[in-house]
Amino acid sequence: MSPQIQTITLTRPDDWHLHVRDGAAMRDVVPHTAAQFARAIIMPNLKPPVTTAQQALAYRERILQAVPEGVSFVPLMTLYLTDNLAPDEIARAHEAGVVALKLYPAGATTNSDAGVTDIRKTYATLEAMQKHGLKLLVHGEVTNADIDLFDREAVFIDRHLIPLRRDFPELKIVFEHITTREAAQYVAQADRFVAATITAHHLLFNRNAIFVGGLRPHYYCLPVLKREEHRQALVQAATSGSPKFFLGTDSAPHPAALKEHASGCAGCYTAHAAIEMYAEAFDAAGALDRLEGFASFHGPDFYGLPRNTGRIILQRQDWRSSVTVPFGEAELKPLRGGEVLPWRLMP
Ligand code: DOR
Ligand code: ZN
Repeated sequence: MSPQIQTITLTRPDDWHLHVRDGAAMRDVVPHTAAQFARAIIMPNLKPPVTTAQQALAYRERILQAVPEGVSFVPLMTLYLTDNLAPDEIARAHEAGVVALKLYPAGATTNSDAGVTDIRKTYATLEAMQKHGLKLLVHGEVTNADIDLFDREAVFIDRHLIPLRRDFPELKIVFEHITTREAAQYVAQADRFVAATITAHHLLFNRNAIFVGGLRPHYYCLPVLKREEHRQALVQAATSGSPKFFLGTDSAPHPAALKEHASGCAGCYTAHAAIEMYAEAFDAAGALDRLEGFASFHGPDFYGLPRNTGRIILQRQDWRSSVTVPFGEAELKPLRGGEVLPWRLMP
């Protein structure tokens, strides 16, 4: 057996799917991401959602104010696609440096009430996006009550993604936080206009994690964790070296009290130890040599942005992550808070 790898040096990675919220709470979470990642795609599902270029620019400023002194971090902004987001707004968004729009099917997840009720209603806007090169980031789940929660991603591919790609063949689409073998296969076989992000928690856990020894609300996110065979398919995709798969944490902070609740919020907070958890997943698959492509190269290549030049170092070293983190007036409980993690990001 070859000796265990003890240290990994990576080109500074980016997070291609992140929630930071707003206000005082945001100031507690942005530093976690800025300590690890050079850039992050910022999700627009605020209340009210970010639907104009002007709102995105103002939100970007507030995020930058939450970045600690001396740390360099670039938020990449997105708009929230609604049934009536005017096609004119796309040119303004492009001008303002907005990189993408997020499609939430109405009712699919946290703060998605303003989401799209029928994709056909957005066609003029998608046309403008295709023209200006803005990406479409998709929460790929149907919302029909008659479709089993665990099947909603696979059904979305047939009902919505395939027609969408037929109608907009040159619109670049990121199938966000994929959770199933069907999604991984679909993306692997698709043309260069389609890619996918994969979270650390979907690489590390299957759906049993939600129920070990009692209901574990901090493992509840959407799309929900799936069976082991799906987790394995995601690990295979992420470690395959295919440029179609890249890192997107979907770190989604919520006050602990709203997750430990009769109707708990969906979202796992992983920003405190994101790259460490990805290293753990790649290590378990014997694929640490593929981590840099996934974490640092495939994302910027797909988005048409330069790769980062800085470096980070990860060391095989046990450390215990915090049980709670301040979150404005509240506190949040990070995924695996209080547990010993095997990889550590060096300062
Ligand atoms: O688990 C999730 N949390 N999934 C989403 O799609 C949204 C996110 C959030 O904003 O909390
Ligand atoms: Zn998300």
